[in-house]
Amino acid sequence: MRSRDIRRGFLEFFESAGHKRVASASLVPGDDPTLLFTNAGMNQFKDVFLGKEKRDYARATTTQKCMRVSGKHNDLDNVGPSPRHHTFFEMLGNFSFGDYFKGEAIPYAWHLLTAVWQIPPERLYATIFMGEPGVPRDDEAYDLWRKFLPADRIGELGAEDNFWQMGDTGPCGRCSEIYYLKDDGSMMEIWNNVFMEFDRQPGGALDPLPAPSIDTGMGLERVTAVLQGVESNYDTDLFQPLLQDVATMCGQPYTRTDAASTSMRVIADHMRASTFLIADGVIPSNEWRGYVLRKIMRRAMRHGKKLGITEPFMHALADRVVSEMGDAYPELRANRDSVVKVIRSEEERFDAVLSAGLGRLDGPRRRVGEQGRARRRDVPALRLPRPAARLHRGHGQRTATGRRSRRVRRGHGGPARTCPRRQPLRGHPGPGLHRRRRGHAGRARRHRGSLRGLRRHRSLGREDRGAVRRRST
Ligand code: GLY
Repeated sequence: MRSRDIRRGFLEFFESAGHKRVASASLVPGDDPTLLFTNAGMNQFKDVFLGKEKRDYARATTTQKCMRVSGKHNDLDNVGPSPRHHTFFEMLGNFSFGDYFKGEAIPYAWHLLTAVWQIPPERLYATIFMGEPGVPRDDEAYDLWRKFLPADRIGELGAEDNFWQMGDTGPCGRCSEIYYLKDDGSMMEIWNNVFMEFDRQPGGALDPLPAPSIDTGMGLERVTAVLQGVESNYDTDLFQPLLQDVATMCGQPYTRTDAASTSMRVIADHMRASTFLIADGVIPSNEWRGYVLRKIMRRAMRHGKKLGITEPFMHALADRVVSEMGDAYPELRANRDSVVKVIRSEEERFDAVLSAGLGRLDGPRRRVGEQGRARRRDVPALRLPRPAARLHRGHGQRTATGRRSRRVRRGHGGPARTCPRRQPLRGHPGPGLHRRRRGHAGRARRHRGSLRGLRRHRSLGREDRGAVRRRST
């Protein structure tokens, strides 16, 4: 099944269940200067969940463009080494605004995965919220899952994993994650169903939402890897054409395993991110969103140089992104010319920066040659522009509330999910599980009792650890 059929199939499935197909919001959150980039399907519906905004539909479905690439939620270094991390990704979602709740959401998810997409049911596992002070165990979700899954394939986890919220305040609720058992025996989360019930207040209190609602998120890249039977998101048709273009440009094959292939993945990922960001109006600069774009682009350019590509090349790859994704995102076609122009000019600027730096090194180098040895002060540092607005303050991306969300965690298909859930459910800093910073050992201990046959901690840990350890430049 091609990725475009998966994307379309998801939307059509929920349309046939009465959902309004809503276009992806821009990657630049229009009315929220504190949110760096749109990072979840529900961002554009936040006020609808809160009852502050009314729409003429109570059910919606989207494929949302998402970026997760800054501050603590910065997965940039994992892109390339990891088979599953991305800066830009697409999130498939279905939403209910006070209409249906978990009694319909769970059967919808099960039906799409097993009946429509024909994923073998024995490959699927689910988790539910186990209960913590302030919010009880999700008995209802458990009972619903029991209609589809045996008890030993339903895990129970705490707030860290199964209570989702967009930021330190705002819509939130217990959630249920669906996992796919891979051939190697490890688990991969593919879909998160959030049962929105609360509006977290600044002091931490959980006020009820006007009505219980649904917010789900499934990474298209990850579910495509499952449905195409490949190990890595980069082996899917979402990435392969771009990777083959890069391979042709540098005259090396994409082997998946060597250092050159890592560089090719970086370029493929960053090309998608750059093309989509520029099409949504972001321009490389030294500030705020433009700084992140510049950083991504220059990282791709450096990897191009590692591959031996000496000429500007990124602008030539933009057409591949446009042709592959332009049907789903018409703004790419509409803005194609300016995307190419902006990329080309940034490539030239970067080359000029490098040449100027090398030129400044030239004088001292000559003197070194003449005098045999340079003094340290003879060799100027190569200075790149610094961001005027600092983005890395140490505590994460700013959320829609203007506060910083707190952690990076596994995602539902994109890069790590930005999921600031590690806070006490009642707003007091009690000794709950969610307060302790837990490494994989702690995670393993915690899961041992509740997940038994699932062996979730081990597989997830391996994936997370691998991604985090294999740092690149
Ligand atoms: N909004 C649900 C999720 O991102 O998992």
